[in-house]
Amino acid sequence: MIKSNSSSNIALIKYMGKTDSTLNRPTNSSLSWTIDHLKTFIEVIPTNEVKDNWAPLESEYSINLNEKSINRFLSFWCFLKDHFGIKGKYQIKSANNFPYGCGLASSASSFSALTKAAYKLSLSQGGNELSVADLAALSSQGSGSSCRSFESGWVCWQDNVIKKIDLPYKNLIHKVVVVESGEKKVSSSEAHRLVAGSSLFPGRVERAENRLIQLIQALQNENWRDAYQISWAEFWDMHALFETSKPHFGYMTHETIECLNLVREVWSINSDGPIVTMDAGPNIHFLFRPEQEEFCNKMLNKFFKNFKVL
Ligand code: DP6
Repeated sequence: MIKSNSSSNIALIKYMGKTDSTLNRPTNSSLSWTIDHLKTFIEVIPTNEVKDNWAPLESEYSINLNEKSINRFLSFWCFLKDHFGIKGKYQIKSANNFPYGCGLASSASSFSALTKAAYKLSLSQGGNELSVADLAALSSQGSGSSCRSFESGWVCWQDNVIKKIDLPYKNLIHKVVVVESGEKKVSSSEAHRLVAGSSLFPGRVERAENRLIQLIQALQNENWRDAYQISWAEFWDMHALFETSKPHFGYMTHETIECLNLVREVWSINSDGPIVTMDAGPNIHFLFRPEQEEFCNKMLNKFFKNFKVL
């Protein structure tokens, strides 16, 4: 049996829009923080069945993948098997330690874990060694954002290459307020396709690339407030693309808006607060500096105690 696991990641500069949807080539560069504590676990077990198959691995949040998601996962598994020349049939078992399909970037952790598992299996069958960058590029063909989960900390995905970036904030505290944990109606892959029709899409690449430069500069200069402002503008930009697509769609609930207003208040009262961002879902991600730990606990207790916080 082969075991693997991989972390999720949260982008502050978003991958949204593709130049090639078969290979998951992004229209713009992205920058993420790897979320060490939100993980996918995979077991690959040889089987006598005629076909490879998927089953849930027992965990706190059992994944009930729908047929479409199982087919997507298994078809990438078969692609990886072909790529590595892996022999035999297998059962793939997987589980997350967080809810699935609600904007917590489960495809990032699950596809990177699957790529790692296939690579391990290939090595056990005498396959060649690959660099982390090559593995990440391979994984991006299963799900784009998964390539950024091959490094810890700050990771940039640019020109189809991932690069770990050395920035001053190395040990951030990540928290996500789970406003809703049900499966989302419009998948990220569908969102990538739909945003191309938004009237705001022209200019999107320039806006994202400019913000990437500004955000890296802000982080390098340890200008936390600027980093917060840039990340805030970036996730609203992405959600504005969703709301102006044809047909328009959206993920924010009234609770999301309430939570965002509270964070705005926290920042204005304290002249400090967390970096805030959202993926294609209703949930809100926070990044706190290590010295903000007490402040973080107070803020979550005071304003978000009615929500699950991971
Ligand atoms: C909003 O990587 O899930 O989370 O390549 O189609 O699998 P596919 O899309 P996916 O898109 C992630 C979009 C995002 C932003 C981001 O993670 O950069």
